[in-house]
Amino acid sequence: MKRLYFNEVSTRDGFQIEPEFVPTDSKIALIDALSECGYAKIEVTSFTSPKAIPMLRDAEEVMGRIKRALGVEYTVLVPNLRGAERALESRADELNLVMSVSETHNLANLRMPREHSFAALTQVIKRVDGQTPINVSLSCAFGCPMEGGVTQQEVLQWAQRFADLGVRGLTICDTTGMAHPGQVSRLVDALQAKLTQQLTLHFHNTRGMGLANVLAAVQGGIERFDGSLGGLGGCPYAPGASGNVCSEDAVHMLDAMGYDTGMALDRLLQVAREMPAIVGHDVPGQVAKAGPSMTLHPAPAYVAERRANADLKLHNSMLSN
Ligand code: COA
Ligand code: ZN
Repeated sequence: MKRLYFNEVSTRDGFQIEPEFVPTDSKIALIDALSECGYAKIEVTSFTSPKAIPMLRDAEEVMGRIKRALGVEYTVLVPNLRGAERALESRADELNLVMSVSETHNLANLRMPREHSFAALTQVIKRVDGQTPINVSLSCAFGCPMEGGVTQQEVLQWAQRFADLGVRGLTICDTTGMAHPGQVSRLVDALQAKLTQQLTLHFHNTRGMGLANVLAAVQGGIERFDGSLGGLGGCPYAPGASGNVCSEDAVHMLDAMGYDTGMALDRLLQVAREMPAIVGHDVPGQVAKAGPSMTLHPAPAYVAERRANADLKLHNSMLSN
């Protein structure tokens, strides 16, 4: 059974687009519950400008008060040097730096051209100097909602530039659900042929292709995935963004196929069922509502009657023969 590794992003990507502030205590209780579910990593929050992402303005308090479980890495999203200083102060296990492969999305999301982001993130990597592992998330790697297509060459080039700076991992993000499985297969082949970094795939289910894309990536050899409990999520600065691939739906599918996700699905589903109360609305995840595929339901009463009648007929016909 192939081992896969899950990174939960609901309290970062999931919450950042929610209209109602999720209280700090609820965030901490949720992260503590998620820590018991078998994740390799949890993206707890982001150290961004509180004006840009007001939902995550309590990042220091959340990082300071969560209970850290052995074997789980607690990572945080970081857009610039200021964010990196805050993340190091909070003893994050990993810094997840972010920039977009699309110039327009980078200007919308991070308010600077890509080259400025690259220079700022280079400074961060030098400042961290191996003290804490670095991952880089490349947004809009499968397309940009404002520019359209993004070439594979463009993604490979940015990935290579960060690889040359010695980062541990790269996350390839489909920020607004534009990827399709054929494109995923081609890009993961090209990335793995070129790079030795840990590769994580980050899909959004905006157009219903999320799980198909996860499967294409797994079949292409990828072992690490981001997912969001309940399927929450979206970048507030990417028009039309909606939820991430739902963690429990992805784990359920991969478990059923015989992959070793390391996750405790029953426990994960219990936590997932609390999500609507936490955010105050229904969430897109399906398995928490339907139950795992082997959840059995009682047959209607007439089935028993039909079965008894059929048995009786068979019995009578055997007697008469
Ligand atoms: N943490 C806290 N505050 C920060 C900060 C950080 N990492 N970086 C900048 N700020 C503050 C500055 O102090 C300044 O505050 P002030 O207005 O009170 O003086 C304000 O944010 C603007 O700073 P500036 O350097 O001019 O940044 P900007 O306006 O160009 O914004 C970002 C750049 C990256 C800080 C901002 O756009 C951001 O945080 N974006 C979040 C992107 C994101 O998380 N998107 C979703 C995930 S992909
Ligand atoms: Zn995302």
